[in-house]
Amino acid sequence: MAVADDQELASAQGGTPGPDAEKVLVIIPTYNERENLPLIVGRLRAAVPTAYVLVVDDGSPDGTGAVADEMAAADEKINVLHRTEKAGLGAAYIAAFKWGLAAGYDVLVEMDADGSHAPEQLPRLLGALDHADLVFGARYIPGGSVVNWPKRREFLSKGGNIYCRIVLGVKLHDITGGYRAYRSVVLRTLELDQVASHGYCFQVDLAWRTIQAGFRTAEVPITFTERAIGTSKMSGSIVKEALLKVTGWGIKHRCRQVKGLVTGKRVKNTVRT
Ligand code: GDD
Ligand code: MN
Repeated sequence: MAVADDQELASAQGGTPGPDAEKVLVIIPTYNERENLPLIVGRLRAAVPTAYVLVVDDGSPDGTGAVADEMAAADEKINVLHRTEKAGLGAAYIAAFKWGLAAGYDVLVEMDADGSHAPEQLPRLLGALDHADLVFGARYIPGGSVVNWPKRREFLSKGGNIYCRIVLGVKLHDITGGYRAYRSVVLRTLELDQVASHGYCFQVDLAWRTIQAGFRTAEVPITFTERAIGTSKMSGSIVKEALLKVTGWGIKHRCRQVKGLVTGKRVKNTVRT
């Protein structure tokens, strides 16, 4: 089923799994992923056949949206959210979350289209939801790894994570990662309309909001494999946005902590496990 845009949220249908099963929606954002999309969706449908899929395409010039429509026409578990222009990963996910919540899914998963996130490891993420509300697929914990990334990119990613740990005081090892599973209650609680991060710092933004709201988080190891087809959409402006935003949140957080010390109130900044 293809969905035109956000206005059709209210009428979005999510399918009808058994009464006891939790409905899982895997959201796959795409921008010029025509060749990758059928591969990742095929792997996902084989690895976790009960999961539903929502492709959120930003009007890819290479025709990814039409490929997604064809797949949706042939498989009732696949849906497509078409957006008119490339508005960044954050905006695409927010629109998809709203769609998924309106359709009544219990679990919403983020997964890249380019094969970097192995669908075969999804059961591991879903399994950890028994003791967490947000589960991160983590590269930088024992058992996790990165395959085929240029040294420069790995350095940037690891450095970004260390920076977040120091500045925000979080205990997570891979807060920038984009393979994660949210219980719907988290996304229903957070004020999604207030999330203004456009690029990949959207991942840190949502994790930070989730932690501050007091939800439980967990990390499970994943193998992140660099794409074999197409190109990354990472850019200098995405890095700049992340650096500025994380620094701003850190300053705000530390100011609140100092104020808490002065007034005797404790400020929440750590994960409930
Ligand atoms: N709809 C939409 N709109 N999709 C987008 C956009 C956008 O503006 N920008 C990127 N995407 C999609 C890509 O098509 C792909 O499916 C996914 O988002 C990730 O994009 P990549 O460009 O492949 O990201 P990456 O491999 O450089 O970065 C990965 O690692 C980052 C940091 O570790 C991703 O997992 C990021 O989410 C993660 O923050
Ligand atoms: Mn990628």
